[in-house]
Amino acid sequence: MKVLVTGGAGYIGSHTTLSLLEGGHEVVVLDNLMNSSAESLRRVEQLTGRSVDFRKVDLLDASAVDAVFAEGGFEAVIHFAGLKAVGESVAKPLMYYTNNVAGTLNLLHSMEAAGVRRLVFSSSATVYGASEEVPLVEKAPLDATNPYGRTKEQIEDILADLGEADSRWSIALLRYFNPVGAHESGLIGEDPSGTPNNLLPFVAQVAVGRRDMVRVFGNDYPTPDGTGVRDYIHVMDLAAGHLAALGYIVGRPGVYRWNLGTGRGSSVLEVIEAFGKAAGHPVPYEFAPRRPGDAAVSYADPSAALADLGWSAHRNLAQMCEDHWRWQSRNPQGYAAVTEAAGAVAE
Ligand code: NAD
Ligand code: UFG
Repeated sequence: MKVLVTGGAGYIGSHTTLSLLEGGHEVVVLDNLMNSSAESLRRVEQLTGRSVDFRKVDLLDASAVDAVFAEGGFEAVIHFAGLKAVGESVAKPLMYYTNNVAGTLNLLHSMEAAGVRRLVFSSSATVYGASEEVPLVEKAPLDATNPYGRTKEQIEDILADLGEADSRWSIALLRYFNPVGAHESGLIGEDPSGTPNNLLPFVAQVAVGRRDMVRVFGNDYPTPDGTGVRDYIHVMDLAAGHLAALGYIVGRPGVYRWNLGTGRGSSVLEVIEAFGKAAGHPVPYEFAPRRPGDAAVSYADPSAALADLGWSAHRNLAQMCEDHWRWQSRNPQGYAAVTEAAGAVAE
């Protein structure tokens, strides 16, 4: 299938692009590189031995998006492009609503005009809000608690309305839990700019010596060890979930919602310990106050994805940490060192 991958130079997008190419699909990546480096795609090329067709385009530039579709032949779109930092979305809500919601609207208009009506969308478990009802099932009420989460909820609503209005659309809303890890080669991985917001990249940067210690946000939650529990999922399992969803929606018009998680929760302390084992030395941490807005426990009921797609996550927390560490230890500064050394990034 010829697939357009928006945000394909980013963390989850680059791993999914790799899996698509390995699965024999033809891929065109659209990304403005606002939170990524084209180096990730060069490494995908190195790993697959195939070239990645890359268009440096901003989804907010409607005519440039139209021009990509004018090339013709696309059979589906996997839409990762978006901003994802919760704290930044609270500080800059207009930037988030514009980039994520307006960017998606531009994409949908171009798809409609080109007659491309298959879409796999990156939603998030954040749409469930701070629900205490675990495991989370797809029919749980949505209640995003910050502007980032609301962009995901709003896009889900827009896509549901579109599917309702025009039965030719096939749309998969994939609600990811907590993506971590890296491709087992250690060549591609997560490369956050600035201070990481999420636990795993922060722990990895402490383990590699870029930061002093992890601050554990709260040790008085009603959980076995008092720290927050999340459903961490290996990014390669997540990538496989996209291929499964894509395969499912072909020939099945409608709007589908699937949780992509393992169904198993791990505490912050369990993650820090597992990462220390993978790195071969303990990761220093200290307890700090709770982070406002955090739920005590969040994990998926992934049974719908298993029943419908035949998909489930296979990699455990130890593998997630080993693969994340391989990437981090071989690329302590992420892609930056390479792109600086190479000079201008090819676009
Ligand atoms: P990422 O930042 O690594 O990748 C997103 C990519 O989109 C980047 O390469 C960025 O440059 C690009 N992009 C952003 N705005 C764009 C625009 N207007 N035009 C073109 N390109 C644009 O993030 P990721 O972790 O790979 O996340 C991918 C998607 O999954 C996002 O939509 C995110 O909200 C969602 N998601 C991520 C997580 C997570 O924890 N990583 C969890 C749930 C959902
Ligand atoms: N945590 C720490 N210290 C840190 C960072 C995180 O103790 O430095 C804790 C948090 O309090 C939480 C757990 O580690 O208990 C996981 O936190 P993350 O920030 O990694 O992940 P969240 O589950 O809070 O949220 C992330 C994204 C959301 C998304 C959600 C599910 O920020 O947008 O994953 O995909 F919805």
